Amino acid sequence: MTDRTAPQSDPCESGTTSLQRLTQFARDMGHPTSLPIIAERILSGLSEVSRHSQGVLYLLNRERECFCQVVSQAQLPSIAASSAVPLSHPLVQHLAHHQDILDSSALTDSLCRASSNNSMSVQLAALPIDLVIPLLNRGQLIAFVLLRPKIETTVIPSHTIELLAAMAQNAANALDSFLLYEDLRQSQALMRRTDRLRSLETIAGGFAHEIRNPLTSIKTFIQLAPERKDDAQFIGEFSRIVLDDVNRIERLIQEILDYARYMEPRLTDEDLNEIVSSCLYFIQAKADSRGIKIEKDLAHELPRGMLDRQQIKQVLLNLLLNAMDAMSEKTGTLRVRTTRLPKADGEVWTQIEIEDTGHGISPENLDHIFDPFFTTKHASAVNEGTGLGLTIAHQIIQEHRGEIQVQSTVEIGTTFRINLPSHRD
Ligand SMILES: Nc1ncnc2c1ncn2[C@@H]1O[C@H](COP(=O)(O)OP(=O)(O)OP(=O)(O)O)[C@@H](O)[C@H]1O
Ligand SMILES: [Mg+2]
Repeated sequence: MTDRTAPQSDPCESGTTSLQRLTQFARDMGHPTSLPIIAERILSGLSEVSRHSQGVLYLLNRERECFCQVVSQAQLPSIAASSAVPLSHPLVQHLAHHQDILDSSALTDSLCRASSNNSMSVQLAALPIDLVIPLLNRGQLIAFVLLRPKIETTVIPSHTIELLAAMAQNAANALDSFLLYEDLRQSQALMRRTDRLRSLETIAGGFAHEIRNPLTSIKTFIQLAPERKDDAQFIGEFSRIVLDDVNRIERLIQEILDYARYMEPRLTDEDLNEIVSSCLYFIQAKADSRGIKIEKDLAHELPRGMLDRQQIKQVLLNLLLNAMDAMSEKTGTLRVRTTRLPKADGEVWTQIEIEDTGHGISPENLDHIFDPFFTTKHASAVNEGTGLGLTIAHQIIQEHRGEIQVQSTVEIGTTFRINLPSHRD
């Protein structure tokens, strides 16, 4: 803005106050969780400093090629009727070109200069504004704030304009990082969906392969039954085999339905230690009967997390049962540990470790254990598996934005680690 005569207060005092305000504003900009929240913080910061009582924020929407109003949570009746302003609007053009804060007098200047263009004057005059603050990122106009009406009629002092410009820069940076983060989050969600579709394709192929064998044996039985109907041994033995096959097909169908069901977790505030303890309670009797010792080491101050209790239980039970299956040849120890996991960005996640002293996983198999239908339990009469347990576990942990990792040494044992985000306050 140019040539502004303003009543100056003590420059030292206003400098200190400005710095404090700017620091506080920058702090308020940290970690917003939604666009309305960030809009509200920007609007309340800017209107408080500029002494206006209402504000509205317009954000660039590249797809729609316009600036759209972001509704703040504490929004007063909107000061601007239009919820979208096209890129060709004279105000947008002016801000993009001059990149300065406009008060009503500067706006009038601009109107006068643009008076040769009648439609531009009309459009500008139609906006009920006292102050316009552009938010720029790398020289590009990404948003702007309209404010009105003034609480004080005095001209805004130049140091306040400087402060507003610094706050606007801060707000633009915060908006930009928030939008980048949102973009990333949406792409990750899309990737997860795509991943899931791809594995559903594999599952469909695997399913066809898996049911072919039991179907063949059922078909053989039906074909042979009429001529062997008096052979009691044949009928007895084959009936048992057919029943096992039918049960296997039923179980496969159930597992596939569980997997195919859209697995958006139903998140509730949970104590992970409590879920772990409840799973251990479930398997204790089985472990005792197999002579397996369970060692439990749960962290005292574990942050709570937003988790789908049933899904996390399903994951843990599968890992615990896998661990016990791996120790079925000999007695062993199952160690379950929970810990706080500080991340590089300052957040604290939770980690669950499930460690067994079983037969381990060979390096060739290790690459495939999360693949649908990968199982080494086909041959085992005791622990027959579908090979979907870890596929589902991986899917669930991904949906919780967590990580699942495995380390294994043949004949020594296997450790699974699950890392889960905790609350973001
Ligand atoms: N703790 C472990 N120790 C050794 N091998 C393991 C362990 N956990 C998993 N595996 C290997 O990974 C394979 C796949 O496990 P997954 O849980 O997906 O299927 P499954 O246990 O065979 O069948 P399901 O869980 O569907 O009943 C297992 O068959 C086994 O070979
Ligand atoms: Mg399993």
